[in-house]
Amino acid sequence: MTQIAPSMLSADFLHLEKDVRLVNGHADLFHLDIMDGVFVPNISYGFPVVRAIASIARKPLDAHLMIVSPEKYIERFAEAGASMLSFHLNASEDPSAALGMIRKCGMKAGIAINPDIPAESLFPYLSECDFVLIMSVFAGFGGQKFIETTYSRIETVRNEIRSRGLDCLIEVDGGVSGKNAAALKSAGADILVAGSAVFGADDPAAAIASMR
Ligand code: DX5
Ligand code: ZN
Repeated sequence: MTQIAPSMLSADFLHLEKDVRLVNGHADLFHLDIMDGVFVPNISYGFPVVRAIASIARKPLDAHLMIVSPEKYIERFAEAGASMLSFHLNASEDPSAALGMIRKCGMKAGIAINPDIPAESLFPYLSECDFVLIMSVFAGFGGQKFIETTYSRIETVRNEIRSRGLDCLIEVDGGVSGKNAAALKSAGADILVAGSAVFGADDPAAAIASMR
């Protein structure tokens, strides 16, 4: 069963409560993009917003850290209400240690990679990950165009997970919509993140249904 995770980066921040409630009954997860202006050239939002969303979300919060030194903030994201936490492979000095810390805090642990990082670089960590996040755009901004080479990157990781009999989900993030959802699922994606395709739609619930 494919899970749909609306990215709150594309929500209406003046009416965040309205947008959380709008997708609460339809989404499987809330995807929260945390950007620090250093690892990526953009700044999004932090703990107060995560806590506010957590206070009314009826689905687990999936926090995607696009920040340097992610290890420093793992505990605070758990306290703020995150259930899943991913960080970028090249942002961490010791990915195995970070994954262990995330799990110790009771969250599902994941590693994210941008489109220019070989999919194989995830292999050494797959047995320690609950999920991996394969970016289908360069992290930093919503509303970018989906990069087509993503399909083969997903297949590469899916084949490795299958051949080793591991229990690791594949999440895809960036430019995902009703147009590519089915192809992403057949490539092996388990979790589809979508920002503009959900909140830019006239009917976000229908957009989620069409992806599903
Ligand atoms: C990009 C973020 C994505 C983004 C997706 O850095 O990680 O989660 O919000 O937005 P869309 O679906 O509009 O590409
Ligand atoms: Zn994201």
